[in-house]
Amino acid sequence: MNKSMETQGRDQWSSKIGFILAAAGSAVGLGNLWKFPYTAGMNGGGAFVLIYLALIIIVGFTLMAAEIIIGRHTQLNAIGAYRKIRKGWGWVGGLGVLAGFVILSYYSVVGGWVINYIVKAATGAFSTSDINVLGGMFESLTSSTWEPIIYHGLFMAITLGIVIGGISGGIEKFSKILMPSLFIMVILIVIRSVTLPGAAEGIKFFLKPDFSAINVSTILAALGQVFFSLSLGMGCMITYGSYLSKDENIPQSATLIPLLDTGVALLAGLAILPAVFALGFDPAGGPGLVFITLPAVFAKMPMGGLFAILFFLLVLFAAITSSISLLEVVVSFVVDEWNWSRAKATTIISAAIFALGIPASLSLGVWDTIIFRDLVFFDALGFLTDQILLPLGGLMLCIFIGWVWGVDNAVKEATNGGKVKFTIAPIWGFVIKYLAPIAIGYIFITGLIG
Ligand code: PHE
Repeated sequence: MNKSMETQGRDQWSSKIGFILAAAGSAVGLGNLWKFPYTAGMNGGGAFVLIYLALIIIVGFTLMAAEIIIGRHTQLNAIGAYRKIRKGWGWVGGLGVLAGFVILSYYSVVGGWVINYIVKAATGAFSTSDINVLGGMFESLTSSTWEPIIYHGLFMAITLGIVIGGISGGIEKFSKILMPSLFIMVILIVIRSVTLPGAAEGIKFFLKPDFSAINVSTILAALGQVFFSLSLGMGCMITYGSYLSKDENIPQSATLIPLLDTGVALLAGLAILPAVFALGFDPAGGPGLVFITLPAVFAKMPMGGLFAILFFLLVLFAAITSSISLLEVVVSFVVDEWNWSRAKATTIISAAIFALGIPASLSLGVWDTIIFRDLVFFDALGFLTDQILLPLGGLMLCIFIGWVWGVDNAVKEATNGGKVKFTIAPIWGFVIKYLAPIAIGYIFITGLIG
């Protein structure tokens, strides 16, 4: 992970499942469990989900493979990787580093809420399924001045603590147990949620497309969600791919990770939206949706109290396996390019990210000024990253592989020089050269104007 490792032969994942779990750990996080359900809820439900799935198939798989290919080929951080293949392209990686920095600032604020909810669950605060009470609880946390900032600091400190020690070992071991547990837990919540009286409306809302709810900004939101949820467009999978050994199977990994990620997102949607309807809550309720709805579901489950603690703990772990990947992208750049020690880089960057998160948190309370369109600072940061920086990074990635480095070179790396099957390579080449950049560029431009 640091300069010396880079020149002396790099750290590598100790097993194939290690890489897949770590990459899936980066992908699966608050984006799936917190953001996907409420974004789908705000954008009309089923039609959003359908567009999301279409974009996962066109853009998600393709770019996942693309980033891992570049990472493993160059064995470098996001900026170094672009620059090694073609001089003058390092700035694309630079955009990604910037995106990682900004995402983590508000991601950590939400991570802080999760820690607070673990405390709440452990102290028995969720004994009610009254949406108004639970809504008030969420509001009073997020809009207060000090409390969420302290929890945000705690979340950043945990992330810092893990990244400072380097990523192998820790991240891998962590993910192996936690990911499967999270999966099982979410399935249990889905079962409770869809069997609540009145849940059918919510299932319908989530699965039945209503195309009148779709417009260009909905589609841009879906595209942004694809990038965010898969950790794409900012060099994260380049960085993780750079630790992948030369004989691993890239096409297989690039298929499995988006499948896992999408599976968790869909399950989270099914865990939350049916309950939202059953409890008479508003699906367009925004970022509080998960935090308000799930405690009500837990209150209606046997051993719900214990379940709530375990669930929010697992959400925290999922968030941490993502936040370390965000921090890692920035740290590995500064260590490689500015020659800072890992400890210094991690500490200073974390402090700066913490600082940027403070106004983000305050913008949900005392500083609720609209700064862009109808967005407060917190939401504006999300818009900047998901709907501008990540799609732009993804677009440049397509152009880079399709038109600068060349599909043939990329396919050679993906197949380990012809040893691994990549049956759909011609389709992949077509998508990355034409279909994906046109789709991303079109959605990006019309969505921003519209
Ligand atoms: N994919 C992560 C999530 O869904 C967030 C993330 C975005 C992580 C970009 C790394 C890079 O929570």
